[in-house]
Amino acid sequence: MPRRDVPAPVIEGVIFLLFAALLVPAGVVGWVIGDSGKSTTAAPVVSTTATAAVSPSVASGAHIFVQFACAQCHGPQGRGGVSPYVPALTNAAKTLQPSELRTIINHGLGESANPTKPYMPVWGEVISKTQVADLVAFIRAGLPRVADTQPVSVPRGQGAAVAGAALYVRYGCINCHGPNGLGGVPNPLSADKSIPPLSGQAFRGEFNTDAKIAAVIRSGSVIGKAPIVSMPHWGGILSSAQIAELIAYLKTLK
Ligand code: HEC
Ligand code: HEC
Repeated sequence: MPRRDVPAPVIEGVIFLLFAALLVPAGVVGWVIGDSGKSTTAAPVVSTTATAAVSPSVASGAHIFVQFACAQCHGPQGRGGVSPYVPALTNAAKTLQPSELRTIINHGLGESANPTKPYMPVWGEVISKTQVADLVAFIRAGLPRVADTQPVSVPRGQGAAVAGAALYVRYGCINCHGPNGLGGVPNPLSADKSIPPLSGQAFRGEFNTDAKIAAVIRSGSVIGKAPIVSMPHWGGILSSAQIAELIAYLKTLK
């Protein structure tokens, strides 16, 4: 017997959504392939499960929300609870218009170098227009739960550097400083024109003690106004133990 009450387009849609959810972490390229391959089913999907039905853009936004560590500051599904200085986004989902959300994401908010008070980083040069649109769609949809959006877990009992390597991904350092701290991410209006690497002789020479590295991770470094991307500060978000693990990882980089 064929399954009752589930018209073929719905099954196809659900399959597409699962398919998209697998492709999105691979990035925009994977996304475009998945999307163009099934363009006729790209309309909002009617789900038969208890999870909220979400459009491909919302599903993509849910992944980007984890990839760029929005979830590490604003809490899973933007529910807050990480730091008293970082608001939950449930209210913004209801009150802020798409254009206001875009401006906040692109330009940041409340920038400061006070290490105990995290601010909203500037993302405009780091997150593509499509990705920002997907984030806005996700927030406006009420930040629903989407399958397979768990952040990378941090292995325990394998040493500080292994934990630090996972934290480097979990807290989104990798998006700005590149895989293995190689740098090269554009920051066109900054003096260096790009976000600095966290490896190599220049870095090692300037940041030659654990204390110096810890200080910049805690306090960040406001190097100009948006759209210049500054180093967010993670004091109040990352614990001293997590910062020590990140430093142990950075030391393994050439
Ligand atoms: C380092 C921590 C941190 C990260 C990472 C972060 N935010 Fe924020 N965000 C903040 C803080 C702090 C504020 C409050 C700023 C203020 O009001 O001065 C904020 C404010 C916001 C607001 C405005 C909320 C309101 O009610 O006014 C939005 C929307 C937002 N963030 C979205 C995002 C998105 C999307 C991402 C990921 C791309 C993200 N944030 C990543 C710390 C963070
Ligand atoms: C939104 C992009 C962004 C993210 C995310 C980010 N950084 Fe940075 N980081 C920067 C920028 C820009 C600078 C350069 C600041 C300067 O020149 O004063 C910087 C500087 C640094 C420095 C000092 C290196 C130097 O040459 O100035 C360290 C160390 C560092 N970041 C570590 C981290 C770690 C660890 C994380 C993750 C917890 C992280 N960063 C996340 C943008 C970012």
